[in-house]
Amino acid sequence: MKTEKPGAQTDQTRTTVEITTAALEDVVGIQDVLYRTWLATYPSETFGINVDDIEEMYKDRNSEETLAKRREQVSRPQETTLVAKEKDKVVGLCRIIKREDKSVMEAIYILPEYQRLGIGSSVWREAQKLLDPKKDVVVQVATYNTDAIEFYKRRGFRDTGKRWAEKKFRLKSGAVIPAMEMIIKGKKE
Ligand SMILES: CC(C)(COP(=O)(O)OP(=O)(O)OC[C@H]1O[C@@H](n2cnc3c(N)ncnc32)[C@H](O)[C@@H]1OP(=O)(O)O)[C@@H](O)C(=O)NCCC(=O)NCCS
Repeated sequence: MKTEKPGAQTDQTRTTVEITTAALEDVVGIQDVLYRTWLATYPSETFGINVDDIEEMYKDRNSEETLAKRREQVSRPQETTLVAKEKDKVVGLCRIIKREDKSVMEAIYILPEYQRLGIGSSVWREAQKLLDPKKDVVVQVATYNTDAIEFYKRRGFRDTGKRWAEKKFRLKSGAVIPAMEMIIKGKKE
């Protein structure tokens, strides 16, 4: 799908951002979007999460092992990674995992300089085409990521009330990102 969006360039040129299923060669771009967007989104003084924590998490982002894992993930039949691309550059992504009982959306990430241009909305529109309307769709969000919570709310997601701290992702500083769950209920017949 192609959408005309104003590009992030300062010269006001218009560029085309295309949403497609990720290809194996997109993995380096995917790692870059995750790393840069995490750095811009998750450091929090309140929760003791610092830039160094995120740098540590992504320090091996371009290692052959990490890229191989990402390639394997992109190839899984029960999952779809959608990428938003400006020419060959990955500027955003989202991962959909189809489970027996529900669909899991592994969040939408758009590069900071490409946010608020409508690209996240376009990714969500494409993601919906892949989702079974009869099944619940869940997304996990950091409890302090108010922009993302609002974004999902305006697209129909509701807070399930579930809260947890993912201990297995304990960061270098010892901090843990507090998480919450949001849901769009499936239309059961
Ligand atoms: C949250 C996120 C996915 C939204 O994607 P996005 O591309 O920035 O979102 P969009 O531009 O499609 O829409 C965001 C809002 O900005 C508005 N907007 C779009 N273009 C705009 C513009 N040129 N100027 C001002 N506002 C604009 C949209 O109307 C929309 O408002 P709405 O929700 O009331 O409809 C993105 O900002 C992001 O990646 N954030 C950081 C990572 C993150 O937190 N991800 C979610 C993890 S759970």
